[in-house]
Amino acid sequence: MSTASSSHSTVANKVTVVGAGFYGSTTALRLAEYNIFDTVVLTDIVEGKPEGLALDMSQSRAIEGFETKIIGKTTGPNGEGYEVIEGSKIVIITAGLPRKPGMSRMDLLEVNAKIVRQVSENVARYAPDAVVIVVSNPLDEMTALAQIATGFPRERVIGQAGVLDTARFTTFVADELGVPVASVKTLTLGSHGDTMVPVPSQCTVNGKPLSELLPADRIEALVERTRNGGAEIVGLLKTGSAYYAPSAAAARMARAVAEDSGAVMPVCTWVDGQYGISGVYLGVMAELGAQGVRRVVEVDLTDSELESLRKAAEAVRAKQADVANL
Ligand code: LAC
Repeated sequence: MSTASSSHSTVANKVTVVGAGFYGSTTALRLAEYNIFDTVVLTDIVEGKPEGLALDMSQSRAIEGFETKIIGKTTGPNGEGYEVIEGSKIVIITAGLPRKPGMSRMDLLEVNAKIVRQVSENVARYAPDAVVIVVSNPLDEMTALAQIATGFPRERVIGQAGVLDTARFTTFVADELGVPVASVKTLTLGSHGDTMVPVPSQCTVNGKPLSELLPADRIEALVERTRNGGAEIVGLLKTGSAYYAPSAAAARMARAVAEDSGAVMPVCTWVDGQYGISGVYLGVMAELGAQGVRRVVEVDLTDSELESLRKAAEAVRAKQADVANL
């Protein structure tokens, strides 16, 4: 490989994870282990933490067999250190506080809004061409805020929730029926919260409708467990929230963007007319590519699923209107 082409691909293949908590650091490691990026950058405001974690992850390369460079950098409140993210094709924002037992994601709104706004402004300054993937909670509101604060085109700011919620739903169905997760297809739309909309009519096991395999009350119980999937783990951990499945979800989205793959998955994105819903960030199926969301993919919904999705849209619309002022 010539020097010129390798330095070019270094710029094209850089991904940044902001926030070196469990969610961020696990995401960074997953991205590095894909071995498709030249560089993974991990930042945090806790002095030395991202540098230490990056060094530790780097030392796993010889064992796990990947070459991706992992750079950790402590950043300051006024953007100090952010030059390290320059040239990033993708920035994943994990910064913010996680829930404690008994808290709803919405309880994090004000404190995380300040953090996400500050991070987004620095991302806009140092990585103006990046696709931004937000995972901070409350998810739908923080995604909307990141778009406002970066000023990026809406298709370039997306949120991670549906891939995780769907994975949880799939796991619960597979466990209930004693079948491999690979044979189960599920879907959740709506918000990452109380108005999450699981879509049983799109759920299948080996191609068979879920409704033919489980009675309605069992499906409803699994739907309810999915809706509370994050809180169930927070309750067990007592401190901190889930990160293995969440980081897998965020890393998959980043991979679809990095590879310009056209993969279709449920993400939080700007909805503008689909399902009769307009002007709100909401969880829907979308096709991902190098510029973020290529298009929203509408799926067939039953009347009651459509009604639930519209309700979810109105619930998050009201909250999203508030975040502009936070
Ligand atoms: C969860 C958090 C990450 O659902 O929102 O586990």
